[in-house]
Amino acid sequence: MLRSTHMSSNLEKLRSEFHSIYGRVPRMFRAPGRVNLIGEHTDYNGGFVLPMAIERGTTVAATARTDRKILVRSRNRGEAGEIDLDSPELMRRGSWLDYIEGMARILERTGVRLLGADLLIDSDVPSGAGLSSSAALEISVGLALTEISDVSIDKVQLALVGQAAEHEFVGANVGIMDQYISALGKKGNALLIDCRSLESEQVPLSSAETRVVICDSKVKHDLAASNYNVRRDECEEGVEILRKFLPGIAQLRDVTRLQFEQYAGSLPENIRKRVRHVVSENDRTLLAVDSLRKGDLSSFGKLMWESHTSLRDDFEVSCRELDLLVDLAFECKGVLGGRMTGGGFGGSTVNLVRKQNLEMFTTQVLEGYARNTDTEPAIYISEPADGAREVVDAIR
Ligand code: GLA
Repeated sequence: MLRSTHMSSNLEKLRSEFHSIYGRVPRMFRAPGRVNLIGEHTDYNGGFVLPMAIERGTTVAATARTDRKILVRSRNRGEAGEIDLDSPELMRRGSWLDYIEGMARILERTGVRLLGADLLIDSDVPSGAGLSSSAALEISVGLALTEISDVSIDKVQLALVGQAAEHEFVGANVGIMDQYISALGKKGNALLIDCRSLESEQVPLSSAETRVVICDSKVKHDLAASNYNVRRDECEEGVEILRKFLPGIAQLRDVTRLQFEQYAGSLPENIRKRVRHVVSENDRTLLAVDSLRKGDLSSFGKLMWESHTSLRDDFEVSCRELDLLVDLAFECKGVLGGRMTGGGFGGSTVNLVRKQNLEMFTTQVLEGYARNTDTEPAIYISEPADGAREVVDAIR
């Protein structure tokens, strides 16, 4: 079982490695990965999501340069790159540099004038696990680039820059959830985000009785290469068709369950299933928030199971390994709810487990998964953590 520990000694290492590469003492910025508790594939439909930031994150050590060049190294990959902000843009190389270049270029397009930068990046968010390593990278780099250029940027704006970078420079047509929670998460809280108005509310998530347990299937998920973009198009097709009957709708967010039932017959089967997922998932998310506020964890958990079924059968973004992890969790004592989390087609599940049953849960899931696949899942337990920030105290 892994937990994010030794944070300050990791920061120390990063700082001294930065010093030996670039010869200066850096400032440090960190942005977390996330796990989504409920509200999946609703963000790009203008709907509701309930993610929380996790204790794992990406840290960027940074100093400014005066020549408008960004020299960047990734500790995890052992690779380096260079971006010259005064040269033409380069996009979709298919590497991690797309995220860095995307952030810098889109920030500049929004009117921010950046200095150059020396950067060293380190992350403990597993990549391809559906825990938003991409958003953690974008938001930590965006924060570092702006802060060392002495520019302050609103956190929602920073999230929007991250989303645009992903669309244009990476080629994944993502919603706003991951960047938003990475920028604005708050310790001890999940965040209800209205993905249309971009307003949000903190929803306290107590760890008195239960813990949030993440099981990484180790089936790599890659949004740019998956059917993610296809699902987005299918949702838009649903809006197009339904608009003939409901001219007032702009996104699936605007469709009620009743309206869906009334016009479901006019939708081709695959579109009908996608729409049914989105409409029901928006309702589940708002109900889940109510349950959490009332301290009704068993209702909350039930909505998580239902969400998984809908993602598996209607939205069709699960896979055999994720279904197995959810089935294994369902069999365990003290599990209130579980579901796949994030974009799907691999990645992780999220489970709400009673504290006294944690050990048993871990053992049963590890054994059951190993018996049915030839892989071992990784299990992470995380409290809701803070969003993007400069890290100052832990390094002194
Ligand atoms: C990915 C995207 C998000 C969201 C989820 C599915 O994580 O980055 O914007 O669409 O998938 O809920």
